[in-house]
Amino acid sequence: MIKCISCGAEYSLEEIIYTCKECGSILEVLIQPNVSKDIFECRKSTMWKYKEFMPVNESKIISIQEGGTPFIKCNRLGDDLGVKLYVKVEGSNPTGSFKDRGMSVGITKACELGVDTVGCASTGNTSASLAAYAARAGLKCIVLLPSGKVALGKLAQAMFHGAEVLSVNGNFDEALEAVTALALEGRLYLLNSINPFRLEGQKSIGFEIVDDLGWRSPDRIILPVGNAGNISAIWKGIREFHQASFIEDLPRMTGIQAVGACPITNAFRKGAQEIVPVENPETVATAIRIGAPVSALKALRAIYESDGYSETVTDEEILDAQKLLARSEGIGVEPASASSIAGLRKLVDSGEIDRGEEIVCIVTGHLLKDPNTAINACKEPISIEADVESLKKILDDL
Ligand code: F0G
Repeated sequence: MIKCISCGAEYSLEEIIYTCKECGSILEVLIQPNVSKDIFECRKSTMWKYKEFMPVNESKIISIQEGGTPFIKCNRLGDDLGVKLYVKVEGSNPTGSFKDRGMSVGITKACELGVDTVGCASTGNTSASLAAYAARAGLKCIVLLPSGKVALGKLAQAMFHGAEVLSVNGNFDEALEAVTALALEGRLYLLNSINPFRLEGQKSIGFEIVDDLGWRSPDRIILPVGNAGNISAIWKGIREFHQASFIEDLPRMTGIQAVGACPITNAFRKGAQEIVPVENPETVATAIRIGAPVSALKALRAIYESDGYSETVTDEEILDAQKLLARSEGIGVEPASASSIAGLRKLVDSGEIDRGEEIVCIVTGHLLKDPNTAINACKEPISIEADVESLKKILDDL
């Protein structure tokens, strides 16, 4: 069943619906299979390992083997910060971001419903993922991108997988409003995270973390927050496994935003349940350059229910953390993803995070998504002649 998170109105899983007809609030899919966790044991490590918890028809699954991403213990960085640190590397998904988990379920649902056109607004990754999964399913795809604010790798993916790419004169929030209006007229099936089936896929990040840890929860999960779907999805996944008695404890959900795009943190600081949208959001982390997150209500609930936290980081802190993770652990992530690491550093410094805490930082997208920002953050390659003497001189100076 699909249920309104505010007034509890219920809808059929077969209905194409994005917001509650009674009160206009956002929706969630409810599913609670009665299974033992032993059934997961010998299954291949993709998100479909947990297929009983996915609200789609198994025979119709559209997959490119998403999920089952690396869960890396980061001793060097963790020791420096005085915490036990794991990093969940979502850049290892087929199109290089966590969005693939949501798209696998969302596109499977689109096929079940028999739609022929799918669409989204995006800061980049959602469009790259949707374009790829629509191609795999043979569906038409249209994506709306804020002009000049989408990192190059993401744009290349959306174009190359054959989506109709529209460059919108406006920001993400405006593009989302436009494409949502089109979806409500029935012109396309909307696959932004306001579509509750998207979050059903993304909740598998929560499943994998507790599975990776041997069926227990870390003290805290830290992740970037933009449109606020992912933090909501992961909390939903963890709660489902908790309700199924697969785990006994729960993590504190900790959402990090950029200073220039932080409506969730603003609300958290006031103890509010609702956000005040940020006009003209701005940050180097273009993936989370969002002022009016559609899943704000769910995200704030996740933070409050889990006794979690929300903090902001500056662009400089984001870029420093991106480099730190790349150079101390060999893990290359795009700027938005690094905000989880930047947030961790800040919360350790402020004392919000205790020494010795077990932390999972989710890094949401691959370094190569945004090659320009990476290159701009480095010194130029040294130009030399191809002879041994010049090479030796450089090695001597290293
Ligand atoms: N990290 C990356 C790399 C993202 O692309 C996004 C969102 C987020 C974090 C934030 O996740 O929206 O669930 O809170 N990107 C969307 C997009 C908005 O269009 O690709 P969220």
